[in-house]
Amino acid sequence: MPKKQNVAALAKVARKVRERAHAPYSHFQVGAALESDNGKVFSGCNVENISYGLTICAERNAVFSAIASGVRSFRRIVIVADSKEPVTPCGACRQVLSEFSENMEVISMNLEGHEFRASLAELLPRSKAGILDHPCST
Ligand code: THU
Repeated sequence: MPKKQNVAALAKVARKVRERAHAPYSHFQVGAALESDNGKVFSGCNVENISYGLTICAERNAVFSAIASGVRSFRRIVIVADSKEPVTPCGACRQVLSEFSENMEVISMNLEGHEFRASLAELLPRSKAGILDHPCST
């Protein structure tokens, strides 16, 4: 069993990558550190676009970076933002995270270190139920 990263170490990575966010429109910078089942850490920040709709959240960028490195199963993700309440992933990110590990732990933190923890299955129950039976997926 590969060694687990501790949450403080993941939070440090998420805080650091948050500073690289490209957020000139919302001015809301977000960082994410994603720990794989084999103990590796992938980071992502939000990257906004002048079209707004092309913006990608920190969480999805962390997942895409891991996939590009050949890693596909995850234990947990730590998300850091400068908000009063810790920020949880948007619906799109929840669905993308659940594509790979429905049971990962999601740890949201603000800059003061206040945190909210939940499993991804709690945040997005029945994430894949029936989806492959849709007419559009055949
Ligand atoms: N954002 C994230 O990157 N992750 C979240 O969990 C919440 C929202 C980004 C998207 C956008 O660039 C900005 O924060 C404001 O919504």
